[in-house]
Amino acid sequence: MTKNAQVIYLKDYQVPSFIIETTDLDIRIGDEYTSVVARLKVRRNPASKEVSSELVLQGSKDIKLQEVMMDGLILDASNYDLEAAVLSIHHCPEVFELTTECLIQPQLNTTLEGLYKSGGMYCTQCEAEGFRNITYYLDRPDALSVFTTRISANKESYPILLANGNPIDQGDLENGEHFAVWHDPFPKPAYLFAMVAGNLVRQDEEFTTMSGRKVDLQIFVEAHNSHKCDHALASLKRSMLWDEQVYGREYDLDLFMIVAVDDFNMGAMENKGLNIFNSDCVLADPATSSDAMFERIEGIVAHEYFHNWSGNRVTCRDWFQLSLKEGFTVYRDAQYTADTYSAAVKRIDDVTLLRTHQFAEDAGPMAHPIRPASYMEINNFYSVTVYEKGAEVVGMIHTLLGDELFRKGSDLYFDRHDGQAVTTDDFIAAMSDASNIDLSQFKRWYSQAGTPTLTVTDTYDPVNKEYSLTIGQSTPATAECEEKLPFHLPFRMALLDANGKEMPLKLRGADLVHEKSSVLNITQAQQTFTFEAVLQHPTPSLLRGFSAPVKLDYAYTQEQLLFLASQDQDGFCRWEACQRLLIEAMEQAMSQAANVQLEHTLEAMLRSSLVDEDLDPAMVAKLVQLPSEAYLAEMQSTVDVDLIHTGREAMRCAIALALESELLACYQRCHDTGLFRQTAKAIGQRALKNTCLAYLNTLGKPQYQTMAQDQYALNANMTDVGAALTILISQEDGRLATPLLAEFYQSWQGDAQVVDQWFAMQSGANLVGRLPHVQALLQHEAFDIRNPNKVRSVVGGFIRSAINFHSADGSGYEFVADMVLRLDPINPMIAANLAKPLGRFKRHTVGRQQLMQAQLQRLSKADLSNDVYEIVSKALSVS
Ligand code: TRP
Ligand code: ZN
Repeated sequence: MTKNAQVIYLKDYQVPSFIIETTDLDIRIGDEYTSVVARLKVRRNPASKEVSSELVLQGSKDIKLQEVMMDGLILDASNYDLEAAVLSIHHCPEVFELTTECLIQPQLNTTLEGLYKSGGMYCTQCEAEGFRNITYYLDRPDALSVFTTRISANKESYPILLANGNPIDQGDLENGEHFAVWHDPFPKPAYLFAMVAGNLVRQDEEFTTMSGRKVDLQIFVEAHNSHKCDHALASLKRSMLWDEQVYGREYDLDLFMIVAVDDFNMGAMENKGLNIFNSDCVLADPATSSDAMFERIEGIVAHEYFHNWSGNRVTCRDWFQLSLKEGFTVYRDAQYTADTYSAAVKRIDDVTLLRTHQFAEDAGPMAHPIRPASYMEINNFYSVTVYEKGAEVVGMIHTLLGDELFRKGSDLYFDRHDGQAVTTDDFIAAMSDASNIDLSQFKRWYSQAGTPTLTVTDTYDPVNKEYSLTIGQSTPATAECEEKLPFHLPFRMALLDANGKEMPLKLRGADLVHEKSSVLNITQAQQTFTFEAVLQHPTPSLLRGFSAPVKLDYAYTQEQLLFLASQDQDGFCRWEACQRLLIEAMEQAMSQAANVQLEHTLEAMLRSSLVDEDLDPAMVAKLVQLPSEAYLAEMQSTVDVDLIHTGREAMRCAIALALESELLACYQRCHDTGLFRQTAKAIGQRALKNTCLAYLNTLGKPQYQTMAQDQYALNANMTDVGAALTILISQEDGRLATPLLAEFYQSWQGDAQVVDQWFAMQSGANLVGRLPHVQALLQHEAFDIRNPNKVRSVVGGFIRSAINFHSADGSGYEFVADMVLRLDPINPMIAANLAKPLGRFKRHTVGRQQLMQAQLQRLSKADLSNDVYEIVSKALSVS
């Protein structure tokens, strides 16, 4: 690899030497060229020690500089340099006005960063460093400026012209053009800039804030999607109210807009007053969207809305601080979902995501702390680590401080830093200043990567009635740090008596996090906690609610697990006990290559869940489902893809055999043919019912296939239709699914969101030998390699199907590498995301390791983007 990619280090941070007080943009959209005139009021930054009087602005190779003016005078070429997309203005005075004029071609921009065209509309995505594709600028998050944006375009093609803030002027121009001017009073970094020009319809709502201000809520979509906005609008209103009630945060502009865009690299973007959403993450109606999608949309709408405070009012000093806004905001949206729906189910979903994907990242070549110390391409760090582990870290602060002090800390953080660009250290300082709790050791979570393992042993002394827990911690070496220092973490626990009741905790010495809590304060490599007056041998319920992002190693007996699976009041621990039992049984069967037979105790455990009509059906579905193959792979030191697949399938079959009548009864009980409802109960029932149907269909009996076909034909809602179709696709021969898939496509081809699901169902099918089918999907008329949703559906779905991606002949790896090479010149961010799984070869069997490395080698010989180069080079250098 010869490429000379630059590495950026946190330790090199310096304040900007200039401040851009105001930014006036005049953007004229034309068919061939769009012209961008930027008028910047600039002054030297008194906080900077820089002596040079040169203003250095970032741009990109795709912008054509036409003219540079300083204080109204055109600069000749001796007064500035333009080299490698960087514009340097020499001899700048203390205060001046700089005007640049550039030409860009958004219609040719396939990277979806900067200003680009999606379908018939122009839109922007500026985080992280997209603004430099629009004009030359101080494209860094600590350069805050007040933006005024004038947009002009053809009125017939682009009747809607939007930008951040408030509309202040609009009118018609000659030649069928019109214009609009927007002003955003809140200073912001360029990454929060947004504009849109398109032919869109609007759906409205209203929200009155806690101080009585009326806010207009508007969603802009293409006309054919106007019926799909209700859910997002309702979610937005709920989020606004929740943030007032729980964090005391009020919205600050009179207008909040959301625009749906078909081509988008991620889920959505929190641009000030003008959020831009991937269509798949905002549009919903029951005929076209599953319950899971409704839930996801609500979470994303809340997430982006919450960024208005955690991200926009208080933003990041530099991109190393990304988790400052993302970790905190993911934590806030998870709290919102837990409060609004089922807290236990939300926790289980989040822990599953963390264990499946974040633990894998932390154990692979791209392992990084939630505040990385260096990067080549910041786009690669919009990671599960920064987002999900970052959220866990904020959650631990909440647990350590308790509700009241955590709120005090967040209030102090927002008050102290409103209007500033700050660091994760500032966040910690606010939390510890407000609470008087020392978080200095806790900060190691920001600088040390890797997943700690907690090793727990216990003893009970029946004579002295004492119980003690010894908790040790260790964290594997990762690239940024060999020797890990111990973490500070909250360990929530309970001791259960024989009836499952929580015993009072009387801890000798200290060290409960706060009085009356059941949280142990872990700070050392090894600690022993002794509890007094423990009248009977207790069953420990450990790491309740998953109080820290760690692996827990405690030698539970089967008896203890069965007890916890039925008695633990902590929903997470109850689920965890159930899962441990199922996984153990599966592993045992796999290691003995024996036929999987369901032990009577496990059978009884699953049965009691299935027949329990008092339990939340969504929770029952979680309790009886097996973990995914990817999750199981994370639990093994050497991953055997085939064994996991066959073992899990055999286990599913064994469960269905043993509990056939209960599964059927549960299906029938939950199969609601009445009016479609989206209550928590109805949603939970659909989840449980479809879980049962999938189990029953492992038996290969025609009667259950007919049930799936009937459910499909009933066409009641997309949750049931999608589940039935997915089940039929996974039947060994495609006979039943093929005609339905054709019919499904026929009726839904006009709906991009449904077509995305149609692709994903097929590419993700958990059947061997699917590569030819997936390759055929790439040739389908609805596939478009420039559309990230289609790529994620087809190629992403294929990668998630482990037996196909990891096919022993290497064909899956070769296919993914082919796709990376095809995509890299089009959209490097998406290409890099597809390349990440190839880098995680370390834990696979030797043959697969070699095949994966061979594809990485092949990639390394190509002329790669920074994005893909970083992934490939880091993967190869640790081998
Ligand atoms: N800040 C966005 C969020 O809330 C992330 C994001 C959206 C993004 N689009 C992007 C990041 C494009 C990088 C590039 O999660
Ligand atoms: Zn975010």
